[in-house]
Amino acid sequence: MLSNQKIYEGKAKILYTTNDPEILLTYFKDDATAFNAQKKGKIIGKGKINCTISSYIFQILKANNIPTHFIDCPQSDQMRVRRVKILPIEVIVRNIAAGSLCRQTGLTEGTILKFPLVEYCYKNDDLQDPLLTRDRLLLLELATPEQLDQIRTLTLKINDLLTNLFNQCQITLVDFKIEFGLDKDENLILADEISPDSCRLWDLSQADPNQRVMDKDRFRRDLGNVENAYQQVLERILAHQGSNTP
Ligand code: TMP
Ligand code: ASP
Repeated sequence: MLSNQKIYEGKAKILYTTNDPEILLTYFKDDATAFNAQKKGKIIGKGKINCTISSYIFQILKANNIPTHFIDCPQSDQMRVRRVKILPIEVIVRNIAAGSLCRQTGLTEGTILKFPLVEYCYKNDDLQDPLLTRDRLLLLELATPEQLDQIRTLTLKINDLLTNLFNQCQITLVDFKIEFGLDKDENLILADEISPDSCRLWDLSQADPNQRVMDKDRFRRDLGNVENAYQQVLERILAHQGSNTP
């Protein structure tokens, strides 16, 4: 499966070409990084878990008319995707205050936001992914005004669908990061992954601020039990899948 040419290696995934120029194979690694790769480690089993979770989420989104790059999952740590040109924008949605929002605004962690906050960061490791304003984004020509409107509409719809899905898994979707790409016809398509690496997920049944964390914050903040938390998210997602398959 992985005999084709490697065209890109990122911090958590490797991209390979396939026989079809419009299709790529993504291999999900166990490698984990944080703070712009200043912290490095491995989360054993993460590649398979994130690929499986992402695949299920992409299928749910697809069924709800969100265009995604997902094609199929030939092995548990490999995803076939449509080739897209990734826009260098990290789109972040927040439902509850956490992370950099608290650091940058003084809001208390756990504050429920009055509306879902959509933010854009420049996907640029050298500049440490800075927060962008709409005007800066347009100035840098990272997207057109029309693409930006479409990104916002799709993102809010994705947030509704994911909030609902995770709620059914007894998990609060605090915030998440997504990325979009353009296919060969310039259509905007959801790409990358949606997993405990790219979301903040809190266990609804846990009130303790450390115990409730089921995502990469366990690795970022050295909270321990990282593998268990990822596995728990997978099990709840699989149970959801089981109860929703006719
Ligand atoms: P932040 O609070 O650190 O800005 O993170 C917001 C969300 O984005 C959170 O769900 C984690 C996710 N995220 C990534 O997926 N990649 C990143 O590089 C960072 C900094 C955050
Ligand atoms: N993915 C990012 C990195 O290493 C950071 C993070 O997820 O916290 O660089």
